[in-house]
Amino acid sequence: MTIAIYAGTFDPFTLGHEDVLKRACLLFDHVIVAIAKDCNKHTLFCFDERINLANECTKQLPNVSVCGFEGLLCTFALSKQANVLIRGVRNGSDFDYECNLAGINHHLNPAIQTVFFPPHSKTQFISGSMVRELARLGGDISAFVAPCVIDALNKKFGR
Ligand code: COA
Repeated sequence: MTIAIYAGTFDPFTLGHEDVLKRACLLFDHVIVAIAKDCNKHTLFCFDERINLANECTKQLPNVSVCGFEGLLCTFALSKQANVLIRGVRNGSDFDYECNLAGINHHLNPAIQTVFFPPHSKTQFISGSMVRELARLGGDISAFVAPCVIDALNKKFGR
């Protein structure tokens, strides 16, 4: 049984994340969406909110579970018997960053392999910050996030 981990901040979970996750589900027996508690970013949604939204967005996918984690990703992966890390790579700048991250994780735990997924053309320009900015300014985000995320963003921005 191959368990893969799709880790990130997920602030919030987007249709770009969903696209990567659905494709990973076809390749691996089980995929854990791992929500990072400690990140260098000041998040719009708190840890519990990010977990709840990811749960809501993935509830139709039978081989997916959602879990929060603290500390090193490779330590968390070990605790879940997972040896694959999934990352979405949208463009060249993602690639440079992701190569370094994959290298560090492999150095920390040589049993871990990172698998990159390219985006579909429809989702390649989606990012958490773009979605948050659009939502803050009242733009249409229906092509980028699920309805439950739209509701949560509207609530955050008092709409
Ligand atoms: N579709 C849409 N958006 C995507 C995407 C995709 N396919 N892939 C990435 N993104 C976006 C995210 O929404 C996010 O946007 P934002 O920065 O504008 O909010 C951005 O790309 C990157 O986010 P994310 O994928 O969440 O990565 P991250 O860099 O915030 O998190 C961790 C990376 C959490 C996996 C990493 O920091 C980590 O492993 N932390 C634990 C500590 C550790 O082990 N560090 C490594 C050793 S130093």
